[in-house]
Parts: sequence; C-alpha cells; structure tokens
Amino acid sequence: MPAVPSILGFGAIAIDDIVYVDQPLSAGKGKVLQSAQAFGGNVATALAAVARLGGSAGFVGWLASAEDDAVLCDLNASGVETAFAPRHPRARPVHSRITVGSDGDRFIAYDDEAMLGTAPDFPDEVLSQASVLIVDSYAIGSIEVVARARDLGLGVLGDIEWSGGPATETLMALCDHLILPLGFARTATGRRSPAEVLDALWSPSRSAVVLTDGGRGVYYRGGDETGLWHLPPHQVEVVDSTGAGDCFHGAYAYALTRGADTAGRVAYAAAAAALSITGRGGREALPTGDQVERLLASANAPSPVDLKYAQPDTGT
Ligand SMILES: Nc1ncnc2c1ncn2[C@@H]1O[C@H](COP(=O)(O)OP(=O)(O)OP(=O)(O)O)[C@@H](O)[C@H]1O
Ligand SMILES: [Mg+2]
Repeated sequence: MPAVPSILGFGAIAIDDIVYVDQPLSAGKGKVLQSAQAFGGNVATALAAVARLGGSAGFVGWLASAEDDAVLCDLNASGVETAFAPRHPRARPVHSRITVGSDGDRFIAYDDEAMLGTAPDFPDEVLSQASVLIVDSYAIGSIEVVARARDLGLGVLGDIEWSGGPATETLMALCDHLILPLGFARTATGRRSPAEVLDALWSPSRSAVVLTDGGRGVYYRGGDETGLWHLPPHQVEVVDSTGAGDCFHGAYAYALTRGADTAGRVAYAAAAAALSITGRGGREALPTGDQVERLLASANAPSPVDLKYAQPDTGT
C-alpha cells in the first residue's frame, strides 16, 4: 500500500457536461460557442487542487470497482491517491450540466442520484495517518466517519452548500474549518450581513469560519486572532468561475498542512481560487504552488469588519 496522503476527502465527484454561450446568463438565451466534458465535484476538484499545488491528497469516498472506471482514472491522472477508497459496483459520479455565460458566470444543474459518502467502517488506521479531512454536503450520510476523524485529531474542513436537515447541522458542528459560500451561509443562519453570519456560525470549537463571496472576496474569523476580516478579491481575467470554491478549499487545506495561520490560509486559498478561474472548467487552470506564491506577492491586505455595523448588501 502507498503512504496515506496528509489530506483526505470524500464527497461529490462529478462528470460535467459544459456549454459555453455568447451571452451572460441574465440574457436568458444565447448561442453555444463550445461544448466540453470535464471532471468536477467539490471534493474531487479540491483534492486535484492540492495535488497540483504540490501536496499529497487521497480520495476516500466510494468508487466503482472497475479499474478502468473513468472517474478513478481521472483522479489518478490528477495526482490524487485512490488506493484507500472503498469500492462498490454501484458507485457512480454525480452528472452535472453546466451553462457558462460570456461573463464567466454559470448555472449548474446536477443529478446526484449517486452513491456518495464513504464506507461506515472506514478504518481509523488510515484516518489517523492523515492530518486533514475535506468533506462536502454529502457527508451527512457518513457523519460517524467525520466524527471519528475529528476525534482522531484531524482538521475537518467542510464545504457545505445545501442542507439535508438536522444532519447538516450536526455535520457543520463537526467542521472546525467551516468554509461556506456566503449565499448558503445566509440561508443556514437566517442572517444577512457577512459579519452577522460569521458571528452566528462561530463557536469556541472552531478553528476558522470562512465565507466565500465569489468576485467580492472572502470574509473570515479565525480562532488564532480576534475580529472579523474581509479579504478583497484578486483582479483576474475571469474565463469560467466553475470550481473556484473547490480550489479554494483544496488550497486552504494545503496551507493548513504547511502550518499557515488563518490569515495565511485564506490568502493562499483566495490567490489559488482566483488563478483557477482564468481557464475553462474546474480543472484546466488549477495553479501550481509557484503561481500562487507569485500572485500572493501582489496580494491585497485584509481589512477589519466591524460587527456593530451591518455590511453593505453584497448581493446573494
Ligand atoms: N471573479 C472572481 N475574482 C476573483 N476571485 C474570485 C472570483 N470568483 C471567485 N473567486 C475566488 O474564489 C472564492 C470562491 O468562489 P465562490 O464564492 O464563487 O465559491 P462557490 O460558490 O463555492 O463556487 P463553486 O462551488 O462553483 O466552486 C472566492 O471567495 C474568491 O476568493
Ligand atoms: Mg462551492
């Protein structure tokens, strides 16, 4: 068996059929410029981002038994270890159809009648050799494994985008690094301003709460510092924003394994995510560590956010 990677993850793994159109999505219709098929999924793309940055990543969710399975081959080609993933003949990926507008914005329609999550008896011996576990909303079916990972001392990094009811609240409580898109975080908390949302999601058991807000940057609070912060976005030429959040999660996990503090992890992740949207699909422009370091050299500084004052409405 190969060495257990330091960053493990399970959750969505997807095959995306993408059409690029010549109008913004708000136009309602547009001419097809190009069609493409790409591999995606929150956790699969996050792990591919880790590997591209130079870290060691392993997918540990259900995979099909066939050795020539397309998803398995793609993970391996992306540098993601699959040797520790449980196998099942009925495992198959999420199938998504994505429309990308001329402004890089996208609409994702997904069919997730798939076997997601991981084996309930996923071994502690493997978990305990890793330092970070990345999970997404589908981990509600494998809560016990997430709880064991947390008990074993792994950093649990949650990319939660939809709620499956009370199990999602349990899952979110288990994530010491909770990194959510602001839109879902608003829905989950019933709060509006990023400062109020951060405050509502904070608890002493968290290491960090991070809210990603697309082209408007990132809001965060870390256990290693006081206050709430906003990091403005990098100015990049947006080609396709698909997978920006996934890359953000992978890069954050990689920075975590390298010992970065909250501000350092968020800055690293934001730079990687900004670079990832300069190419098509979720994977084409995943950056190398050197590319991220170069962009970080020109990084904007974060500014404090005052909880007493509601932030301007930044849209949904
Ligand atoms: N237009 C942009 N310019 C600069 N940075 C961006 C832009 N869009 C996204 N990012 C970076 O990527 C991060 C994550 O993006 P976003 O909030 O859209 O994630 P998401 O909603 O989870 O998307 P997905 O699930 O498709 O990956 C942002 O917080 C920001 O750091
Ligand atoms: Mg996302």
